[in-house]
Amino acid sequence: MRHFLTLKDYTKEEILEILELAHQIKTETKNKVFKDYMPKNTLGMIFEKSSTRTRVSFEVGIYQLGGVGLFLSSNDIQLGRGEPMSDTSRVVSSMVDMVMIRTFEQTKIDEFAKYSKVPVINGLTNEYHPVQLMADYLTIQEAGLDKDLVVSYVGDGNNLAHSWLMLASKLGFELRIATPKGYEVNEDILNDAKEFAKESGAKIIIGNDPKEACKDATIITTDTWVSMGQEEEKEKRLKDFGGYIVDEAMMNLGAKNAMFLHCLPAYRGYEVSEEVIEGDRSLVFEEAENRLHAQKGVMVWLNKQLKK
Ligand code: CP
Ligand code: NVA
Repeated sequence: MRHFLTLKDYTKEEILEILELAHQIKTETKNKVFKDYMPKNTLGMIFEKSSTRTRVSFEVGIYQLGGVGLFLSSNDIQLGRGEPMSDTSRVVSSMVDMVMIRTFEQTKIDEFAKYSKVPVINGLTNEYHPVQLMADYLTIQEAGLDKDLVVSYVGDGNNLAHSWLMLASKLGFELRIATPKGYEVNEDILNDAKEFAKESGAKIIIGNDPKEACKDATIITTDTWVSMGQEEEKEKRLKDFGGYIVDEAMMNLGAKNAMFLHCLPAYRGYEVSEEVIEGDRSLVFEEAENRLHAQKGVMVWLNKQLKK
């Protein structure tokens, strides 16, 4: 049984297949055609962290596919009071058809998947955010930027940076990551990406100079400097990330057709300026809407694998 825990487990062909499905279902949805791809299916949605986009996209997504979503916040379920992941998994997965989890360490979602009787989707962990990257790439394809793609990621070496590493190294495009010193990406994940890049031809460049990274890039992207769970480090982080804001000057270093992406929520005046996020080169709200379509692609694809 396939899960969707990290893009590390996926081939280029599979990623493109999911995106094709997402695109097809998006076109149908835009034409108000709602096909029951997953009739009467239930999606358990476990959240140990806050969410706007992930929750809404999965809940609306499963409904539009003919099923229903159950919002299970750890504030309300026994997981939040210490019930083990393994027990939660066996119980929840005995009643629902698919599970999406947003949690802390990747090991927690791996534990859930180990005990689960149904496919499990990663809705964000400390290490990865793979469903976000599916929406990001769908947005890139729609903008016609997937050819000769050069992505520059400026900011924290976090779950988003790691997921960009996986996507680039699987699909074979150029990715430049610029982080402040001390906020570099995880070395094991980087090494995995370098291995995958040997096969895909991806070019992965890691450094500490955001200006250098943005030169002639076609996509410039960033993420919050303070991820969920890092609130106590906020003051130090805001100091350490000085100079890493994506502003007009940074965007101007990119290619003529360069566009801006951000998974949101964004903190204006910190990782991105008001002018950039609200400007003509920003695709952030197209990207956010694509969460709905991409998530449907992932769910339908996983469901199809069960029938093989
Ligand atoms: N980008 C993203 O995952 O947003 P939420 O935290 O609102 O789900
Ligand atoms: N890196 C951020 C992404 C939020 C969608 C976090 O983990 O909080």
